[in-house]
Amino acid sequence: MAATSSPPTHVAIVMDGNGRWASRRFLPRVAGHKQGVESLQRCARACAQRGIAVLTVFAFSSENWRRPAEEVSGLMDLFTYALGREVDQLCKEEVRLRFLGDRSGLPDRVVQSIVDAESRTAAYTALQLNVCFNYGGRWDIVQAARSLQERGVPITESTLQEALSLSHVPDPDLVIRTGGEQRISNFLLWQSAYSELYFSDKLWPDFDERELDNALLTYAQRQRRFGKTPLQAIVDSPRLAPESAGDAP
Ligand code: IPE
Ligand code: IPE
Ligand code: MG
Repeated sequence: MAATSSPPTHVAIVMDGNGRWASRRFLPRVAGHKQGVESLQRCARACAQRGIAVLTVFAFSSENWRRPAEEVSGLMDLFTYALGREVDQLCKEEVRLRFLGDRSGLPDRVVQSIVDAESRTAAYTALQLNVCFNYGGRWDIVQAARSLQERGVPITESTLQEALSLSHVPDPDLVIRTGGEQRISNFLLWQSAYSELYFSDKLWPDFDERELDNALLTYAQRQRRFGKTPLQAIVDSPRLAPESAGDAP
């Protein structure tokens, strides 16, 4: 079977398993989240080295507010602290940071650190790092539909796509989930329609270059067909995006 010929342009990751990583060490869950930040730095560097242009990660979901208040506030504190500490390094590595999610639900200090990090890294192009924070795929679709409605724009596949949070980048080619669960958990519901999925048993803090390479190797062995036959997929460009069937006359 013909496999994908080029590496993924856009990799998206559900960074799951921090809590279990900590529990196995008799540490508080937030220690796992802290280790998760280190793992993200390592992964972003590895993606840039491998020529991946866009990395999108799921850091806090719309549903994660359901966790104990102590863990939620620990995550907000860690997020603000980590951003303050890591942005210098990201600038050195020329990483452009963007944040996707509902900012209206976030504490002011968190929003401020997001705005600062986005503006400080706005000129960089080595890697686009999108961090989904207070994000849900359903929220994204609803906010996009609302914004079209408010502007009186007819809803089509392409106008909706344009109004979604990730409209600045192509859809993810590869979605990785660590932590052993095989579900999407309200991640990029619209954008992952034709993504290849890779589920890793590694807990996120243990996700390293080797496991990234395993995912990339698996991706390289897949044939992306976008609804076509295997033969058509060989003849046509493997990177061809699916036609917007919904908008066709
Ligand atoms: C993912 O790790 C990070 C967040 C959801 C914030 P978890 O905290 O879900 O870790 P597990 O799944 O409980 O091990
Ligand atoms: C998904 O992980 C969200 C993030 C990684 C931020 P969860 O741990 O919240 O997912 P479920 O609850 O196991 O589906
Ligand atoms: Mg989890």
